[in-house]
Amino acid sequence: MLSLLSFLSLLAIATSSSTNEQPRTFIVQVQHDSNPLIFPTHQQWYASSLSSISPGTAPLLLHIYDTVFHGFSAKLSLTEALKLQALPHIIAVIPERVRHVHTTRSPQFLGLKTTDGVGLLKESDFGSDLVIGVVDTGIWPERQSFNDRDLGPVPSRWKGVCASGKDFAPSSCNRKLIGARYFCKGYEATNGKMNETTEYRSPRDSDGHGTHTASIAAGRYVFPASTFGYARGVAAGMAPKARLAAYKVCWNAGCYDSDILAAFDAAVSDGVDVISLSVGGVVVPYYLDAIAIGSFGAVDRGVFVSASAGNGGPGGLTVTNVAPWVTTVGAGTIDRDFPADVKLGNGKVISGVSLYGGPGLAPGKMYPVVYAGSSGGGDEYSSSLCLDGSLDPKLVEGKIVLCDRGINSRAAKGEVVKKAGGVGMILANGVFDGEGLVADCHVLPATAVGASGGDEIRRYMSAASKSKSSPPTATIVFRGTRVNVRPAPVVASFSARGPNPESPEILKPDVIAPGLNILAAWPDKVGPSGIPSDQRKIEFNILSGTSMACPHVSGLAALLKAAHPEWSSAAIRSALMTTAYTVDNRGEEMIDESTGNVSTVLDFGAGHVHPQKAMNPGLIYDISSFDYVDFLCNSNYTLTNIQVVTRRNADCSGAKRAGHAGNLNYPSLTVVFQQYGKHQMSTHFIRTVTNVGDANSVYKVTIRPPSGTAVTVQPEKLVFRRVGQKLNFLVRVETTAVKLAPGASSMKSGSIIWADGKHTVTSPVVVTMQQPL
Ligand SMILES: *[C@@H]1O[C@H](CO)[C@@H](O)[C@H](O)[C@H]1NC(C)=O
Ligand SMILES: *[C@@H]1O[C@H](CO)[C@@H](O)[C@H](O)[C@H]1NC(C)=O
Ligand SMILES: *[C@@H]1O[C@H](CO)[C@@H](O)[C@H](O)[C@H]1NC(C)=O
Repeated sequence: MLSLLSFLSLLAIATSSSTNEQPRTFIVQVQHDSNPLIFPTHQQWYASSLSSISPGTAPLLLHIYDTVFHGFSAKLSLTEALKLQALPHIIAVIPERVRHVHTTRSPQFLGLKTTDGVGLLKESDFGSDLVIGVVDTGIWPERQSFNDRDLGPVPSRWKGVCASGKDFAPSSCNRKLIGARYFCKGYEATNGKMNETTEYRSPRDSDGHGTHTASIAAGRYVFPASTFGYARGVAAGMAPKARLAAYKVCWNAGCYDSDILAAFDAAVSDGVDVISLSVGGVVVPYYLDAIAIGSFGAVDRGVFVSASAGNGGPGGLTVTNVAPWVTTVGAGTIDRDFPADVKLGNGKVISGVSLYGGPGLAPGKMYPVVYAGSSGGGDEYSSSLCLDGSLDPKLVEGKIVLCDRGINSRAAKGEVVKKAGGVGMILANGVFDGEGLVADCHVLPATAVGASGGDEIRRYMSAASKSKSSPPTATIVFRGTRVNVRPAPVVASFSARGPNPESPEILKPDVIAPGLNILAAWPDKVGPSGIPSDQRKIEFNILSGTSMACPHVSGLAALLKAAHPEWSSAAIRSALMTTAYTVDNRGEEMIDESTGNVSTVLDFGAGHVHPQKAMNPGLIYDISSFDYVDFLCNSNYTLTNIQVVTRRNADCSGAKRAGHAGNLNYPSLTVVFQQYGKHQMSTHFIRTVTNVGDANSVYKVTIRPPSGTAVTVQPEKLVFRRVGQKLNFLVRVETTAVKLAPGASSMKSGSIIWADGKHTVTSPVVVTMQQPL
């Protein structure tokens, strides 16, 4: 029953680690229905399996899984893990991995629009039967965003609990926050006991991330809301009436797979409708990925799972949480920002952004400005980054200091400058960060500028330093909150990009949603800058990250599910994707913040979500659990690996006959051609659409082929008589080889659009040519 690849991954650990016998956590999948009758419970059976491999002191069981996964986690030596894996009823032994939250960890810009059309749901009870499970850092239940005024009783099917613990009484839950649990056994098995001065052994949030994401998904209307006066207005989540359940899995040292899987197990069994996961790590095959495995179990039970794409952008192949049953969300800007410009002694103005909220610099006064890289004691590199203790107070006192981004957090650099006696800070992006800006609640007057702005300031400083008569000076002008910014949305620089590193035939991310400068609830425990010395308390904070984009889609999914209770997870995602838009508020193609150039499908997937249109998409591309099994077959996963993910004994013979992985009924179509000296290349896709619009509707296709390709669709007209009716069509893509260097690739995109005069159903078509090495 040994899966070769997970066996190999165990071996990899064995050969890469000098401390093989150092126990570590493993997630163990068990053939569920082979529980011998002598064991009344699975727990006893699992405990007995553990004693059988380790006759002395049996390893301790951490979690038992029985809803989205069958098995347990335990801390095992490698020898024990290998022995366990050899037992006949063990399907897989998966090594623990650690994940991290997907915030850019620096408070930033803007707030939620009380989103297009969804605001109209405010007065109704719309969405109030839906429960969103937020798998994150916990929650600060006293926030106004979680009040339960005018909400009806907790839905009767709800089976969750309000787990009490440190500073978290059972009464912390209410009719809004209807469940709260915490999972720390995996965390503590690796890190030892948590420090209860800095962490709560309870669902209470000592970080802020989980409180923020939960209120983005389903925060109530709160007015007035702002962060130090920035982004003043009404704060509201996407689904203000939906219920929330917090599943705390992330702790100071990260979020451990064994705990994440336990949270999925509990959330699905509690009865959530949506799981929101703004957490991720490196991409591994699905059968080694607890998030992919837990998500499959959830989706299989009708639960929608949205996950953040990650903040590894703007480079390619950075997207995470890429399983095709997960909805993967990237981040875009909104039309609000927080300008804070640098004015130089030569009159030049460099635009920047900031959420600094304290006493400003003296109006009209110019301050001496110094580059941290030339102000340090010994190490120029660490001083240029304004690392702790790297600045010489004699050189920065009374001055504005230019620091480079990297290593420590943006806000922490401000603290370093402040401690050294600086009066202000300019934070410059490196080449790698490009022009993407994140605003922070700095502890001194400070602003962030792009890489080119930083270069310009340095050039000015170096020229001015040479002239004794006019040494370099600067000031920062804080301009507050600016709205109706154009262009917006723009793909956020940090938003992780495709292609999909695990399944190249599935375009990821699926969509983008607001993720830059999002205003949402924040705990008292943490200052707005996130640095430990920051004692300021605020009700709302402004953060950026795909972490903030994901819960927008989670809330939206709850609204879609309320409107269409019969829709599957795939149907909800299809509605979001086929109605998404790719133009900005100037009516032009969305641009990429990192370059200022036009963005591509690899940046935004199907586009930016459009809540109103997603309510009524006309057609949907549905996918069942069996289709995902076929997909895994056609991705050449072994039967055992498929079983690890799906808990089913798979038979791949039918799937293989039916074609290739790109035939999964996904709302986007992607093909990667390997040009092995071939001249002509072609492929076809079979798709099935379900009519969820009107009876007797006729859809006609419009094809926008990717440049250099020929795309045909048969039939070109779909005639639906009934609602719920399904019709198939065939898409053929042909292309000729292009000149490429070995290892190089070229991506072109187009689209297929079905329209009945009332609905427009758009699917991206992505063709990549790859020249083998
Ligand atoms: C726990 O954290 C506090 C605050 O950082 C620290 O002072 C204390 O030494 C830590 N305790 C342990 C046992 O590590
Ligand atoms: C952006 O556009 C400019 C000019 O159009 C081009 O020179 C540059 O290569 C583009 N950058 C990227 C990353 O595509
Ligand atoms: C699976 O294996 C077949 C046969 O070797 C190959 O043609 C196909 O490209 C593979 N598919 C994937 C997705 O790797």
